[in-house]
Amino acid sequence: EQIEKGGYDHFMMKEIYEQPSVIKDTYRGRLLADQGLIHLGGLEDYIPKFLNADRIIIIACGTSWHAGLVAEYVFEDLTRIPVEVEYASEFRYRNPIITEKDVVIAISQSGETADTLAAIKLAKEKGAFVYGICNVVGSSISRETHSGTYTHAGPEIGVASTKAFTTQITVLTMIALKLAKTKGTISKRDYMLYLHELELIPTRVEEALKSNEKIKEIAEVFKNASNFLYLGRGCNFPVALEGALKLKEISYIHAEGYPAAEMKHGPIALIDENMPVVVIAINSDHYDKVVSNIQEIKSRKGIIIAVVTEGDTAVTEMADYVMVVPKTPEMLTPLVTTIPLQLLSYHIAVLLDRNVDQPRNLAKSVTVE
Ligand code: G6P
Repeated sequence: EQIEKGGYDHFMMKEIYEQPSVIKDTYRGRLLADQGLIHLGGLEDYIPKFLNADRIIIIACGTSWHAGLVAEYVFEDLTRIPVEVEYASEFRYRNPIITEKDVVIAISQSGETADTLAAIKLAKEKGAFVYGICNVVGSSISRETHSGTYTHAGPEIGVASTKAFTTQITVLTMIALKLAKTKGTISKRDYMLYLHELELIPTRVEEALKSNEKIKEIAEVFKNASNFLYLGRGCNFPVALEGALKLKEISYIHAEGYPAAEMKHGPIALIDENMPVVVIAINSDHYDKVVSNIQEIKSRKGIIIAVVTEGDTAVTEMADYVMVVPKTPEMLTPLVTTIPLQLLSYHIAVLLDRNVDQPRNLAKSVTVE
């Protein structure tokens, strides 16, 4: 097992550090930025299905559901096709309206999650076209879907999903770009820019990983907190949810993810000098709004741990701690902002002596309801 961990103490850490190379594996041979090409074998024949769809319904559970939420922002913005994201467990039992004009995307690392599988079967019965995004080759979901794309992240052993999440987002982004290009809802310039920036993501993730030691120090400060709040806006709202989920899963500390602007409708009541608030405050269209959210937290003595873009000044001055990520176009930021959050939860769990790779009560693949 020590050999399998490749010199890391835990599979989770190994998998966090594998992200630059597995993201590359995900787009290898599929993304040719210089030629302006995206080629996804499973997608080519079905592009008209997507483009003629009334809507895209994304179904998934857990971390895969968070990847679906990120995709909602990316797909709607780029392709102008309406997207809904559903928990598979809710979708399957609420007599959902599905027609032959719907395209369903099922996301699953293991390809074995019982609720997702059942939701796929239901969607197929109602005539929808179902596309799978799985990691495990030959898994039940990959066989049950009409077509799909593998993430090629390699085996993920740690129960808390890390590299599966970033590779799912990579695949979803490539699909959205391909559809937008075909539909004509993206300019040539933006399309080329995103392709080149996507190719640079492995380098960006490597840079983000360089904050590891600093994040370990932050973990030391907050390891005994009993609650955490995670805030983000836009496509980084799902990243806040994912950051909170990671912390809950492996450290057993209660954490909640929230859209930053919703804080005033509830969570702000929880803020005092004992509440660490992790805020994704990268350079984006929402930057000024996030700055004012941070001011609201500071004026209530909350502690700010901010994820900021390199070169940031305004948030850095206000925050108690910062975790720096490199600059990338806003739509791609979830691929880098998620890295410090993975590391933070990892270090807190290790410092608390938790069973990082096999947290209590959780399973890697949930094959029962
Ligand atoms: C379990 C795992 C999570 C995972 C979820 C969905 O809860 O512990 O890490 O996100 O199942 O799994 P899937 O294999 O369908 O992505």
